[in-house]
Amino acid sequence: MLVKKAIFPVAGLGTRFLPATKAQPKEMLPVVDKPLIQYAVEEAYNAGVREMIFVTGRHKRPIEDHFDMTFELEVALEQAGKAELLDVVRSVKPHDMECIYVRQAQALGLGHAVLCGQRLVGSEPFAVLLADDLMVGSPPVLKQMVDQFSEWRASILAVQEVPPEHTRRYGIVDGTPVNDRLVDVNRIVEKPAPENAPSRLGVAGRYILTPGVFHEIASQPRGVGGEIQLTDGIASLLRREKVFAYRYEGRRYDCGSKEGWLQANVELALSHPEVGASFRSYLGGLTL
Ligand code: G1P
Repeated sequence: MLVKKAIFPVAGLGTRFLPATKAQPKEMLPVVDKPLIQYAVEEAYNAGVREMIFVTGRHKRPIEDHFDMTFELEVALEQAGKAELLDVVRSVKPHDMECIYVRQAQALGLGHAVLCGQRLVGSEPFAVLLADDLMVGSPPVLKQMVDQFSEWRASILAVQEVPPEHTRRYGIVDGTPVNDRLVDVNRIVEKPAPENAPSRLGVAGRYILTPGVFHEIASQPRGVGGEIQLTDGIASLLRREKVFAYRYEGRRYDCGSKEGWLQANVELALSHPEVGASFRSYLGGLTL
């Protein structure tokens, strides 16, 4: 297995979801019945990652609690004979999964958050997953990327076509197509205006990076928004190593926005084994 570690930057304030995120991390917002962070962790686990590195900040304790054992709850469920629920609770952290927490004392940007994981990652390739981006794919999007990494042994960025008016929301890449899904990246720009965007291929919140990126991030001046940007580190890495953009197969929900989060809830509820059928008939009965 080549990618064993993943960084989850979870120190952000989640201001776009206030007041819901006033006293709870945005990564703990549920979609149907699971917090956003759990979707990302499960995606990484299903891609073979076993070491989850959370870059946290103040007020992020609930994330640590979520991936810890809940002794009282487990005992109560066991005594009540609720085996199914006990399984649900226990499967949040499989035995062969390790969770490590490191603090990002100051919110200096995504690049800075990734840099906080450097010592834990060491000199191995690693994944970065932004829990705001809920990805639904089969195989899971990160698994698709790990397969690409095994073939190319170079950094892989998940990308999708974005409307021209949305280039300001993403890292935008340009490069030479290798095949239908893969682009050999020669340029990446953080959140360009449409008129300056080199293409319409926007980076989604999934990355597999080689450890060389740490040095590149560390030598970056502050970028867009006065932040240390991961995109700028990748732009610098490009000069030394190959970086590929991969058009993933699947659907991305931008759960950092209310609309994306609502869409994720509706669509995942429709395919949910417990509530799917009744929710579908409820929606069918709505007069809009
Ligand atoms: C971050 C990255 C951006 C990327 C995006 C994907 O931006 O900086 O390059 O396209 O995630 O969601 P953010 O959404 O944190 O502003």
